[in-house]
Amino acid sequence: MASAFSSRSGNIPVAFNPSANHSPVPALSSLPRASPAQDRLIVGVDFGTTYSGVAAVYSASPEEIDIVKSWPGGNGITSDKVPTEIAYITPSDPSKSNVKWGFQFKPEETRLRCIKLFLDRNHKLPHFVSPLDTAAQLRKYEKTVAEAVSDYLAQIYKHTMETLTRRYGETFMSMTKVQFVLTVPAVWSDSAKDATLKAAEKAGMGSGKDLKLISEPEAAAVYTLKAIQPNNLKLGDNFIVCDAGGGTVDLIAYKITQLNPLRVEESAVGTGGLCGSAFLNYRFEDHVKSRIGIERYTMMREKKAKTWNMGLKYFEEFVKRNFNEDEHAEVNVPFPGLPDDEEAGLDSGFLVMSAEQVKEIFDPVVSEVISLVEGQVHTIRAKGGLVCGIVLVGGFGQSNYLYGRMKQHFNSAPPPPYTERPTHAVALSTVPSVEIFHPIHAWTAVVRGAVLRGLEGSMVVSRRSRWHYGTSYATVFDEAKHPIEDRYWSPLWERWMVSDRMQWHIAKGAQVSESKPISFHYTRNFRPGQSLVVEDDLIACDADTAPDSFRKGLINVCALTTDLNTVPKSLFTRLTTTKGVEFDNLDFTLDMRIESAGLVFELMVDGVRYGGVSAKFH
Ligand SMILES: Nc1ncnc2c1ncn2[C@@H]1O[C@H](COP(=O)(O)OP(=O)(O)OP(=O)(O)O)[C@@H](O)[C@H]1O
Ligand SMILES: [Mg+2]
Repeated sequence: MASAFSSRSGNIPVAFNPSANHSPVPALSSLPRASPAQDRLIVGVDFGTTYSGVAAVYSASPEEIDIVKSWPGGNGITSDKVPTEIAYITPSDPSKSNVKWGFQFKPEETRLRCIKLFLDRNHKLPHFVSPLDTAAQLRKYEKTVAEAVSDYLAQIYKHTMETLTRRYGETFMSMTKVQFVLTVPAVWSDSAKDATLKAAEKAGMGSGKDLKLISEPEAAAVYTLKAIQPNNLKLGDNFIVCDAGGGTVDLIAYKITQLNPLRVEESAVGTGGLCGSAFLNYRFEDHVKSRIGIERYTMMREKKAKTWNMGLKYFEEFVKRNFNEDEHAEVNVPFPGLPDDEEAGLDSGFLVMSAEQVKEIFDPVVSEVISLVEGQVHTIRAKGGLVCGIVLVGGFGQSNYLYGRMKQHFNSAPPPPYTERPTHAVALSTVPSVEIFHPIHAWTAVVRGAVLRGLEGSMVVSRRSRWHYGTSYATVFDEAKHPIEDRYWSPLWERWMVSDRMQWHIAKGAQVSESKPISFHYTRNFRPGQSLVVEDDLIACDADTAPDSFRKGLINVCALTTDLNTVPKSLFTRLTTTKGVEFDNLDFTLDMRIESAGLVFELMVDGVRYGGVSAKFH
């Protein structure tokens, strides 16, 4: 198994010599010598739908971001990322691993693919992901989705630690703290983020402060905006980051609020869609079907799997990745063994495809990406914002064709309508063109941003809430507002009450900042001897307007358990009902902070913190 790193500054040898069974020896000057207690290794892990990536940085040499490029089964060929694929096997030697992953598969072997998408069932699956097939495989392996994800991450962890140990040496590794930062999609529910965190903990990536989550487009933005800085950025500018991956395309928008150090705020709620690069492969499949006919196609898939796999691999690795509108060359996709057929365009085992035909495969998918970006541009402009740039990242983001089409669309504003005497109105009506940025490290921008986040903390001062967040409460019955059948008698308050009213603490789209928590106020009564451990459900709502009472369709985010035993008894108020029943009342708040990829809660009474609140996600 080979392990090599590549470094951005390029002073670490990356060549892999397959005949040597020791690791490449890094130049001595590039190896950190001592490891003072505060220095750390930060490892970013981008667990993607189709591909995953790992980057690392040593805090004492923050300029050098290393990308793991050698993978088990990779046959010495380096790759910025490794397929997110896993299967369980019965090894002939029982001491060997029962897991196969990444590059270790032959094309025709069965394995779990796109397993990440099953962590959040609130989203639609792309047509090519079969829940039935995934469920059948999991049943056969006797695994749950969470276990398969955690087993995959455990392989990533093991390989990363081995690679780092080769790179830095065992002594260094035993003295140095390793902190992981894991990326998750921005659109994920809080419970899916929590499930990812748990899977990573189980995989050995640490816990508590040593394991952080960051949203994928935010990580990409951190890296690319820093790379653009400082010449091209101005205060107040808005940038849209478009992370075009395998399955999904995720968008996020930021406004620059400070230049040095760079600080940004999220300027529109992120959006996304199912129009990633894998859709091109399925459109290619349809193309082949229509060219050679369904019968020959089915025969090939069923009887000559190797022939089909070869053609698909060529499309995936060569045709798709090199396609560019300016080069009108034909491509010859190998389908070894398919007999010549002039009409179908089959010649000597190759299917000839014209540039126009490849373009037809790309165009509908590219148009979807453009219209998603267009939507985000409109949202920002509608609020009076100035959109200065679109940053294209992710695997599909690397595509020169996508880049060219985006440039054409956003960059070539039509000339103002002709008038004999130009007026101010005409000058003002021209839409300013938007620059498209295409960073060199588009595919690894997410994972590079993740390590920067671990290294430097967050540059994002505020985000937009993706949901309304609230809690339900009971209040005094008001016949003008509440249905009479909902009321009940409270012996402590000695009034008619109603429960399940919703109080929304944060509105969808509202600005939230990590440093300014949102407070949920509560007042609670306790009879003598009653438990001081209280439970509340945090509720979210995806609709644009949130309802005023609890109803179907609201999302039960998590149960918050607060232990009020930590609050001094003197802060409770002793009250007595008219019937002489004594009870204690406490006013308290739960402070919630929305971090890049998770929710954090704290119990406060009179502005003093009395411990954490545990959140159990549903
Ligand atoms: N130059 C290129 N042109 C088009 N597609 C490309 C190119 N390079 C890589 N890809 C595709 O990008 C996809 C992988 O991208 P990426 O790693 O960003 O996705 P992911 O993180 O797995 O997916 P997601 O972000 O949806 O979870 C693959 O489908 C791959 O075929
Ligand atoms: Mg991705």
